[in-house]
Amino acid sequence: MAKDTLDVTDGRTGARYELPIELGAIRAIDLRKIKASADDIGLRSYDPGLTNTASCKSAIGYVDGERGVLCYRGYAIEELAEKSDYLETAYLIVKGELPDAHHFAMWRHNITTHSMVHENIKKFMDGFRYDAHPMGMLVGTVGALSTFYPDAKNVLDLESRRLQTRRLIGKMPTLAAFAYRRSRGLPYVYPDNELSYTGNFLSMLFKMTELRYEPDPVLERAVDVLFILQAEHEQNCSTNAVRCVASARADPYSAVAAGVAALYGPLHGGANEAVIRMLEEIGTVARIPEYLKGCKTGERRLMGFGHRIYRNYDPRARIIKELAHRVFEVTGKNPLIDVALELERQALEDDYFVSRKLFPNLDFYSGVIYQALGMPLTMFPVLFAIARTAGWMAHWAELVRDPEQRIVRPRQIYVGEGARSYVPIEKRPEPVMREDAVSRTI
Ligand code: ACO
Repeated sequence: MAKDTLDVTDGRTGARYELPIELGAIRAIDLRKIKASADDIGLRSYDPGLTNTASCKSAIGYVDGERGVLCYRGYAIEELAEKSDYLETAYLIVKGELPDAHHFAMWRHNITTHSMVHENIKKFMDGFRYDAHPMGMLVGTVGALSTFYPDAKNVLDLESRRLQTRRLIGKMPTLAAFAYRRSRGLPYVYPDNELSYTGNFLSMLFKMTELRYEPDPVLERAVDVLFILQAEHEQNCSTNAVRCVASARADPYSAVAAGVAALYGPLHGGANEAVIRMLEEIGTVARIPEYLKGCKTGERRLMGFGHRIYRNYDPRARIIKELAHRVFEVTGKNPLIDVALELERQALEDDYFVSRKLFPNLDFYSGVIYQALGMPLTMFPVLFAIARTAGWMAHWAELVRDPEQRIVRPRQIYVGEGARSYVPIEKRPEPVMREDAVSRTI
């Protein structure tokens, strides 16, 4: 009879073990029973990049990378992008259900009334160098929010968690817009509570001398849809960073600062910025084959292509591609779109990309839209960070409530020197550095 177990024979000893399988996984800790000798501490799994390790049970986002499916709390991303708006989707992600009209009105009110930041934030914004990257400013200022809200340390208190969630979702656009205005030498614009979440964000970015900024409804909706698409993506690098810091019971501002820092990386949230730089470098359709050659020889990566989980077309990329055309009707066509479309076409006909199941990801087209909206490249990951705050906060709350979670503390396989004695400096020979891949020093 079939059993929910994994039967393992250890080839070193001939011993047999029965490991329970639950929800399609074995518990890594069960491997510790498998020992080569009595003093062996037990078998470990080696998983750089955590490619096949589930670090938690989660009910927030679902990704089926083989079929190209993404759902938030069971709702398909395509349906949310068509019918919902960012704030409603954020409610869904954070609370688990779509709100009724009454709860949505309260949520909107609660987020909107937390969009102001302490005046001192402006002072340390001013302390950054004139050319500071807004993402660097965001890492610093989000982390600094923890000093303004010491009550956020009560991570086990439900009401405190709710308050910090409203504060963070409310304030992220303000911090992001301040960072942008600072980098442009423009005065800061305070939030306008009469506008939508994304309309207010556009106002804080682009308002000049007019009494009231009126966002173009097509562009306002486009940013809203992009925010929906970027709101959550289960255990990605930045969410894992948030969870890791939160597992030490740090306050959520510190945890989210870690998430923003992870998102800053070009292999993660910095990819849409890198895509535009790549499209600009390619410049014309004629230069695509030569560029692709470099991607295939490992000289460079095709930015906006490939994904750890998706081995199919990223469903978000499909939605963004369609959205781009609607945006261009208002802004005029971004000339880089022709290079992007042809680059995608050629890559998807090339065996290198086909055999490795490398498809366009979320970032391949999002930058082209952001650029058409007038956003500078350096703001792209910042926009991503605003949207992803809903996902980060949901994961933070889920982790804190989960009795199975413990402080994150992975194992390592030590491959360094054995024990040796300290030699006084005058007696030491010239050092010979190890050159193997792991221990090579900087
Ligand atoms: N261009 C060229 N080759 C690629 C690319 C790419 N964009 N992505 C993967 N490959 C190749 C690798 O060289 C490797 O080839 P090999 O088997 O011959 O060695 C193979 O495909 C598998 O790649 P891995 O690096 O093992 O895939 P991994 O899952 O670790 O990386 C990642 C995923 C980081 C997203 C990668 O595809 C990449 O660097 N893409 C470009 C950056 C990017 O667009 N990032 C945004 C991701 S979406 C997000 O974070 C929101």
